[in-house]
Amino acid sequence: MISARSLQRRANTVRQRSIRLWPLFGAPGTIIASIITTACEDHDQIMSDLGKVWVPMCALQDLPTGKASNVFVNGQRFVIARDGDVVTVLQGYCSHMLYPLKDAVVAECMLTCNLHGSQFDIRDGSVLKWPMPMLPDTHERKRLRTHETRVEDGVVYLAWPARSADKVKIRF
Ligand code: FES
Repeated sequence: MISARSLQRRANTVRQRSIRLWPLFGAPGTIIASIITTACEDHDQIMSDLGKVWVPMCALQDLPTGKASNVFVNGQRFVIARDGDVVTVLQGYCSHMLYPLKDAVVAECMLTCNLHGSQFDIRDGSVLKWPMPMLPDTHERKRLRTHETRVEDGVVYLAWPARSADKVKIRF
């Protein structure tokens, strides 16, 4: 299912991240980079291989505004952020130093990490503010992963790769 080219790409990514993390954390940094990279890329592979179904999550009015909250999808932790009718499910950790994004402030479609103040657009996860000078590719490279949602008749639905919606367990 995973081609040799994709494995090669994965190996290159692990190597690059390991080089960046080595001065900070030594050998454990290398292992962490490897685990994170593999998990992210496996997830992306699965997302593209499986068809998605729309899974009802909750009533729009039940979602808090002003701060992100945890949501578990088949046991994986994410955060859900709402600003008016805009609702997004995002990765549960900040892309700066992996701080949990639960309770991050959400205002004007912008989510602010509580640790160092990085800011992200909740509509596409892109970086709006970074705690250090941004490199030309920071905006894209540190983007939070988002999952497609839609609101219909006051119900929030999540697009998720599964054979049927009843195979997807949502827990808040
Ligand atoms: S961990 Fe989120 S800004 Fe640093």
